[in-house]
Amino acid sequence: MIKDELIIKSSQGDYPVRFIETINNLYQEDYLNQSFIIIDKNVLQIYGKKLSKILSRPYFVVEPTEEFKTLEGVGKIVEWLIDNGAIKSSQIIAIGGGITQDLATFVSHIYYRGVRWVYLPTTLLSQSDSCIGAKCAVNLKGHKNQLGVIHSPSEVVIVEEFLNTLSNDEFRSGFGEIFKLSVTGSRQFFSQLKEHLNQNGLQNKNMLQVIRSSLISKQEVIELDEYEKDLRRVLNYGHTFGHALESISKHTIPHGIAILFGMDLINYLGVIWNITKEDFYLHFKNLIKEYYKDLNFEVNLNSKDLINEILKDKKMYDGYMYFAIPKNIGEIIIIKKIVDEDLQIKIKEYLDNESIFNFS
Ligand SMILES: NC(=O)c1ccc[n+]([C@@H]2O[C@H](COP(=O)([O-])OP(=O)(O)OC[C@H]3O[C@@H](n4cnc5c(N)ncnc54)[C@H](O)[C@@H]3O)[C@@H](O)[C@H]2O)c1
Repeated sequence: MIKDELIIKSSQGDYPVRFIETINNLYQEDYLNQSFIIIDKNVLQIYGKKLSKILSRPYFVVEPTEEFKTLEGVGKIVEWLIDNGAIKSSQIIAIGGGITQDLATFVSHIYYRGVRWVYLPTTLLSQSDSCIGAKCAVNLKGHKNQLGVIHSPSEVVIVEEFLNTLSNDEFRSGFGEIFKLSVTGSRQFFSQLKEHLNQNGLQNKNMLQVIRSSLISKQEVIELDEYEKDLRRVLNYGHTFGHALESISKHTIPHGIAILFGMDLINYLGVIWNITKEDFYLHFKNLIKEYYKDLNFEVNLNSKDLINEILKDKKMYDGYMYFAIPKNIGEIIIIKKIVDEDLQIKIKEYLDNESIFNFS
């Protein structure tokens, strides 16, 4: 067990990230007095008994779907809070993955112009990446993550036990963001991750050290640029084409897997644009191929649809897309590129000859 904690600096108030092995004795009752719980439906089903102390407080059950991660979902939670007597000094405790987190952050920000919230992330993605940084987004009219706020939690508690019941797909997807943070972070973390994979593969073993390093990699960025004015944009690495693929697949391809595709594609373009070192491109591609062998997706993917999707991306400005592109490990730069037919041709070449996954 890791005994120390991370303290994340935020202009809204610093907050600790605690690491805990099991669910037992998470909170004392006096701490829970003013709390209202927002919990993922499946987490409730699996861990309801173990969480009975927390669940003695009123709780709202979140449908973990992108359809529920909307203003409609937000409205239902807010009405529930009012009906159950939550006041300005109340505290929200959110238990679940990124969907529950996004909803809880949004609600905590708008309820009486802001209430405290505590987060217990339960997926690998949320434990190793999204639980810090305080960003959130909900979907609008079928478009992903269109509305959002930044509202820091007062505490994050990472309980390793939650990972035991995560599906293989969710686990492999969670590793996608860890791979990303290993490239945007230090060489040391990249080496640590490779060592970890050598010993454990993509298995649910000895994860706390990797989760901690992954969070430190993100912490180094968000503490310098909390509101994504500049540096924080490096964390968008892989996300432009990743989000496009998620949309085209109608979210049948999990987020973390989609961004692995996005990273490999932008690395490929980076090599063509003389930004990315070819050695790094090949090294990263081979690493992903080793751990995500033979992935086939029944998605009809073509360069035109990818271009059409990125034209809708919020990072588009005046016909230009701002891409986060690695020169090498730990050296990510933001470059604007025009989105035109030439880019579409290059993407087609990638899909025809270099794609990391198979699409049919
Ligand atoms: N706010 C941010 O910074 C941020 C960052 C990345 C992604 N996101 C958002 O997060 C969402 C994806 O989140 P996610 O991948 O963490 O998962 P999720 O919340 O979508 O949950 C995935 C599935 O895992 C189940 N689940 C959760 N915990 C479990 C556990 N311990 N055992 C068994 N099943 C469990 C859920 O019920 C659900 O079926 C997307 O909507 C994405 O846009 C937000």
